[in-house]
Amino acid sequence: MTTPAIETHGLRKSYGDKTVLDGIDLSVGAGTVTALLGPNGAGKTTTVHILSTLVRPDGGTALVNGCDVVRDPGGVRAVIGLTGQFSAVDGLLTGEENLLLMARLRHLGAKRSKARVTELLEQFDLVEAARKPLATYSGGMRRRLDLAMTLVATPSVIFLDEPTTGLDPRSRHTMWDIVRSLVAEGTTVLLTTQQLEEADELADRIAVLDGGRIVADGTPDELKRLVPGGHLRLRFADAATLDGASRLLDESARDDAGLALTVPSDGGVGTLRAVLDRLDAAKLEVDDLSIHTPDLDDVFFALTGKKDQNGKKDQPDRVDMKGTEP
Ligand SMILES: Nc1ncnc2c1ncn2[C@@H]1O[C@H](COP(=O)(O)OP(=O)(O)OP(=O)(O)O)[C@@H](O)[C@H]1O
Ligand SMILES: [Mg+2]
Repeated sequence: MTTPAIETHGLRKSYGDKTVLDGIDLSVGAGTVTALLGPNGAGKTTTVHILSTLVRPDGGTALVNGCDVVRDPGGVRAVIGLTGQFSAVDGLLTGEENLLLMARLRHLGAKRSKARVTELLEQFDLVEAARKPLATYSGGMRRRLDLAMTLVATPSVIFLDEPTTGLDPRSRHTMWDIVRSLVAEGTTVLLTTQQLEEADELADRIAVLDGGRIVADGTPDELKRLVPGGHLRLRFADAATLDGASRLLDESARDDAGLALTVPSDGGVGTLRAVLDRLDAAKLEVDDLSIHTPDLDDVFFALTGKKDQNGKKDQPDRVDMKGTEP
């Protein structure tokens, strides 16, 4: 286990009598990507703002690279970069001027600033647009510039608040590639998103935030196994084998035309092995096999926003997936 780059315990924040964060425990390993997934108003941006020292928590602790966000905000700021939910670039300046301004704000010195800006413009495919005012940039170009601004001082921990909202599929994939290459270089990333596909694509771990609490935390696969709907589909060579298998696996549903059986499953290896062992023992050969796990959309709907009449969630407070491999 590496030491976590980001760690929070019981983080709390209220605005007036509205509790926005109600005790957040989060741990992000160095060099990994965690996605904070949650609906509008869940508290994603508030969490990111606390971790990047822009907002003070009311209670609990938050450490970034071992520095406490309240007691040592300078230490935190020295190692982080933040790409906010809404663009923080100046529309009247050109892309290059924005980057240079950021470099000077980061005390990079004239020569190093120039070199770093040139490097970033190339990396983010903004060379052609560099001298044009930002007002002429497309949404995707703006977002790339936002991220380039964040990376001017080569931070080791970056916060990306909804990095691809509003981007077309191509720009979204470009952004994902950029994030992956940052992580490959060892950067730690905490990103917020409402897009399950994005969390699935990028994240090592996903923390689902709802109503100011983490309601689930695990790898994308672990989260998918939390909700029903997963199944195995087994196909057989002939009707006789299908008959035999159908009698053996009494919880299965049969598809005569497709010579197939559908068996409910959590998608885990253990369940799969048990089913295959039973068929094997009965000398019933499987022709083809596929595993269907529920997608993160199922997880999202199952875990967020569902309340019973008492206003309580009808699932446990927090589903912690650590060490629960099937
Ligand atoms: N400065 C503030 N003053 C009062 N209320 C605030 C403030 N900032 C956030 N809130 C409230 O806190 C709650 C969480 O807001 P936050 O921006 O963290 O949500 P979010 O998960 O980022 O949502 P979105 O997906 O819409 O960006 C919301 O109800 C919001 O109205
Ligand atoms: Mg937000």
